[in-house]
Amino acid sequence: MERPYIICHMVQSVDGKVTGDFLYSPRCKSATEVYCEINREYSHNGFICGRVTMESSFTGGFRPDLSQYPAIESNEDFTEVELSEFYAVSFDPKGKVGWSDPFIDDEDPGYDMAQVIEVVSNKVDRRYLGYLKSLGIPYIFAGDDEIDVPLALSKLKSLGIDTLLLEGGSVINGYFQRADCIDELSLVVAPVVSQGDGKPLFDNACISDFSLKETVIYDDCVLWLNYEKLK
Ligand SMILES: NC(=O)c1ccc[n+]([C@@H]2O[C@H](COP(=O)([O-])OP(=O)(O)OC[C@H]3O[C@@H](n4cnc5c(N)ncnc54)[C@H](OP(=O)(O)O)[C@@H]3O)[C@@H](O)[C@H]2O)c1
Repeated sequence: MERPYIICHMVQSVDGKVTGDFLYSPRCKSATEVYCEINREYSHNGFICGRVTMESSFTGGFRPDLSQYPAIESNEDFTEVELSEFYAVSFDPKGKVGWSDPFIDDEDPGYDMAQVIEVVSNKVDRRYLGYLKSLGIPYIFAGDDEIDVPLALSKLKSLGIDTLLLEGGSVINGYFQRADCIDELSLVVAPVVSQGDGKPLFDNACISDFSLKETVIYDDCVLWLNYEKLK
């Protein structure tokens, strides 16, 4: 199946964690800035995040009242809207993320004006589809229970999407890693150790091989590691 080229772009602690309070510590500030700078430099058609990250980064956890929307029982994808060239792809199997607009409004130009595409499974709340339609937000189906990553990516490719940044968190990264759907790693290592409850770069990972392409040191303390998948 043809699919977009996937670059997993993440900030991590020196002990390989990607979630937790370390992300907001002063020593992580320059790593976050480098992360955003590299994001803007990549030539890509948008980014993918898991449901938890979309809620924490873009919607503030808002959950719509679905009782006022019609249930749509059909499993047909809804892409009959004017598509842009830059996307925020939300892996949201059950349909929870409370968007209020089809486009992301963010102060960072690396995310601003990205057009939301929801990827749902057959377990989605059918009224959520009515809600998305009322907002003009496109959605695609992939998978019965969990999201079938290769199927979702092949559908995204058929919409003309060639390259996407996979930007966390740990759980969605793990799904992509296990499905062997990561072509490149872009890891910004902050000079910080995380707390014990932080999640790793890939939740529930399996063994896979990458080769190191490039390393750069920023501000004398932040390390960028760029790997590509070993063919
Ligand atoms: N260090 C970094 O660069 C970075 C970047 C982004 C985020 N983060 C951090 O990561 C944290 C969140 O990470 P997380 O690992 O808890 O969650 P996450 O990966 O953002 O989201 C996980 C959720 O996404 C849905 N999901 C994604 N892929 C799926 C699949 N293939 N099949 C079924 N469901 C799928 C599920 O939603 P349901 O639960 O609804 O089933 C799953 O529970 C954030 O708080 C943020 O701080 C860090």
